[in-house]
Amino acid sequence: MKTEITVQVDGAPRRLTVDTRTTLLDALRERLGVTSPKKGCDHGQCGACTVLSGGRRVLSCLTLAVTQDGAEVVTAEGLADGGLHPVQQAFVDCDALQCGYCTPGQVVSAVGALDEFAKGWPSAVTEGPGAPRPDRAEIAERMSGNLCRCGAYVNIVAAVRQAASAPRAAGAASAQRAAGPGVAG
Ligand code: FES
Ligand code: FES
Repeated sequence: MKTEITVQVDGAPRRLTVDTRTTLLDALRERLGVTSPKKGCDHGQCGACTVLSGGRRVLSCLTLAVTQDGAEVVTAEGLADGGLHPVQQAFVDCDALQCGYCTPGQVVSAVGALDEFAKGWPSAVTEGPGAPRPDRAEIAERMSGNLCRCGAYVNIVAAVRQAASAPRAAGAASAQRAAGPGVAG
């Protein structure tokens, strides 16, 4: 069965007809040519396919495209709107990658994680309210769904810590999308 959907992808409305079994990851990569979300495991285990949907992290390999009709999807590519997003800049500054395959998912996940932290949503290691910035344990827990086969974790944590100190790092993607094209992060 096929159905027509319209998804806002990185700020642009994209209309396409998909088989109802098509994942968001395949729709983005194979149908729309948006290749920053990577296919690592295709089973929800590595985080390489992470995108934001409505500002929240989702694994696009486990998300059916039809469920995203009318949704606002932001990929790592869409974060760089008029300049690098603070999280992207932090990954560059901290050399938080080796092969780079996991990096788009790591970056998007970090944006989502910092937004969740800023909203006061607890993680499994949160002991109470009040911490102004996520510490190493918070970052490790909140980023634990994103695997890096190169083992660049030390610098990834450093990058997320740097980004946590940057103004507008958390939630910047949604703010950019809400403000429209051409607004720098
Ligand atoms: S490709 Fe989606 S979690 Fe690995
Ligand atoms: S940088 Fe190679 S998998 Fe993470």
